[in-house]
Amino acid sequence: MSNPTEQGYFTEENSAEVVVSRNAKAKDARLAEVMSSIIKHLHAMVKEVEPTQEEWLEAIKFLTETGHKSDDWRQEFILLSDVLGVSMLVDAINNRKPSGASESTVLGPFHVPDAPDRPMGSNICLDGKGEKMLVKGRILDVDGNPIAGAKIDVWQTNDDGFYDVQQKGIQPDFNLRGVFRTGDDGTYWFWGAKPRFYPIPDDGPVGRLLGQLGRHPFRPAHLHYIVEADGYERLVTHIFDPDDDYIHSDAVFGVKESLMAKFEKIEDPGRIVAEGVDGPFYEVIHDFVLAPEK
Ligand code: BEZ
Ligand code: FE
Repeated sequence: MSNPTEQGYFTEENSAEVVVSRNAKAKDARLAEVMSSIIKHLHAMVKEVEPTQEEWLEAIKFLTETGHKSDDWRQEFILLSDVLGVSMLVDAINNRKPSGASESTVLGPFHVPDAPDRPMGSNICLDGKGEKMLVKGRILDVDGNPIAGAKIDVWQTNDDGFYDVQQKGIQPDFNLRGVFRTGDDGTYWFWGAKPRFYPIPDDGPVGRLLGQLGRHPFRPAHLHYIVEADGYERLVTHIFDPDDDYIHSDAVFGVKESLMAKFEKIEDPGRIVAEGVDGPFYEVIHDFVLAPEK
């Protein structure tokens, strides 16, 4: 007796329908929905591309290598999702913000959950490398009111283009990371080092793929932020240097117009003295606006 969930024997024409119908008794409706979509799109792609057996094996080998390259510190599949623009698409779908609220962008693999709390105004640049940079701004609600008690978690690369976790034993632990909390006026400020562009980890299959596609692995200079406050949506975002050479070709598509900040070089002797530094420095002023919790 034929199985009522079957659409007949597998043929080139009805391939997706036959496979989808085999999942009719899936235990989870969302899983069934997701798998149906994957199967339909994958079969459509194969029908469009008509890979040779050798090409399909190449694809399998690439995915195998991507898995082998991944461990607790390195997630090559996330990197693949990043360079294909899928991470940013999932981020966009899950972070539709009301008008006036700051936009989100990719988290990236270099956030650490236990960065130290630091007093407002601290210097997070522990290796002393790079050009001094003062970063400041306000955490606001969509009506422009300051948010007190907001938690601001920041991290950035050092002047050599590496995060501390990529250079354990070379950079001080928690170099260029810190967690700050706003006071009643919602302001934040800290000292860091002017960021530079840097390559995403490109010594694995994803880096090789980029090379074969004629793409570079660089991200334009940026600072990462997670901003949280009670009653508001968590904001995972960056600010970018609009003058960076790679601002229009971020390897992971994370740049948004609204996330550009001005990195202004301050050479005024009065300001240099007032800030207690020994020479010119960069100043970046950027406010973040949090959306109310849904
Ligand atoms: C980052 O900005 O830290 C990053 C984002 C995506 C992939 C690799 C690095
Ligand atoms: Fe980054």
